[in-house]
Amino acid sequence: MDNYDIKDISLAEGGRRRIEWAEREMPVLRQICERFKKERPLDGIRISACLHVTTETANLMYTLHEGGADVLLTASNPLSTQDDVAASLVTHFEIPVYAIKGEDNVTYYKHINAALDYEPNFTMDDGADLVSTLHTDRREIMDSVVGGTEETTTGVIRLRAMAADGALNYPIIAVNDALTKHLFDNRYGTGQSTVDGIIRATNILLAGKTVVVAGYGWCGRGFAMRVRGMGANVIVTEVDPLPALEAMMDGFRVMPMNEAAPIGDIFVTLTGDLNVIDGHHFEMMKDGAIVGNSGHFNVEINIPALKEMARNSRLVRPYVEQFELPDGRRINLLGDGRLINLAAAEGHPASVMDMSFANQALSLEYMLKNVDTMQQKVYAVPEEIDLRIARLKLEAMQVEIDVLTPEQIAYLNSWQEGT
Ligand code: ADE
Repeated sequence: MDNYDIKDISLAEGGRRRIEWAEREMPVLRQICERFKKERPLDGIRISACLHVTTETANLMYTLHEGGADVLLTASNPLSTQDDVAASLVTHFEIPVYAIKGEDNVTYYKHINAALDYEPNFTMDDGADLVSTLHTDRREIMDSVVGGTEETTTGVIRLRAMAADGALNYPIIAVNDALTKHLFDNRYGTGQSTVDGIIRATNILLAGKTVVVAGYGWCGRGFAMRVRGMGANVIVTEVDPLPALEAMMDGFRVMPMNEAAPIGDIFVTLTGDLNVIDGHHFEMMKDGAIVGNSGHFNVEINIPALKEMARNSRLVRPYVEQFELPDGRRINLLGDGRLINLAAAEGHPASVMDMSFANQALSLEYMLKNVDTMQQKVYAVPEEIDLRIARLKLEAMQVEIDVLTPEQIAYLNSWQEGT
């Protein structure tokens, strides 16, 4: 095989062992994989996947491959690649991979273009960089593409904007919007892995620290909940009155970033928006403040402003860059402002990715069967797929639930009975 660009092929053996370790915690995907091996529902299709190159993604790639698809994988973020996993996918699974941890932007887009050179029939995206590059710079390969899926909130927002502009050329299923995806992956996955990333990067004690959480969507909720569990005093900042109210009633302090900036010890953005921590916030922060992001793109912290303000900077630990301001205060930026749970840790644990990637596999299978009737829109994951995944996950956890009695069903369907 020569169609790949990875860091070091000799890392493959360690990658394989970690991929197998993740597979233990992915029983739903494993079941789908067993069925795919027999039925080969994806026979003959070509998929270009732009996902974080992790042990969990490797298990998804394997499942699609066993389902009969030709698969290529490119990184969905320059800093999230696990180089040993990339090496194992190439060596043991013969899947072309274009991903190197720490690659610069030029290489990142060179890799995305390699994924488009593959002339896929389906795109599988995480953040919509693959789809947006296809629709802007690489329209000549558009004819080969019939559908796609999108993994994350940021990507779904971009794709909905494309569809609203009439710019989207093929149907896409928003995997993120499945309940078995965002209620678990975004909440418990981001919650745990963001705490993990901060601890691995800094080794600081969270107990007693004031942690400012920007954004109270599912990711923010998950992180706020988990970091409180470690003993932090949590402040939430929001722009939307409903989640702000919810954060209040969940027991957090809520205030604007201007008020939180002088109080916080640690700041984490999980909003999906631009310059949530801006130059004037750095002006107010305490000496030693730690600032990180767990949203998809590295735009939530205004890093150019921080660089402009600082008189110097140095790497004090891997993933911790310390900026010294003219008055001597130091601001510690984590992982270049890229998603710290994947930059300094390993992303969401396999048990939640099990459900997210089961949604990916089943959505793709559904799309292949139904694409002729689908339009150039963003579609929800069909409810029966969501329910099937929830049932399979419970089964794998050996949890049984009650069943409605005929009497209860009749009651729920009637309107006459009251007090
Ligand atoms: N996104 C967040 N965590 C992830 C993981 N472990 N693998 C793939 N994508 C992810």
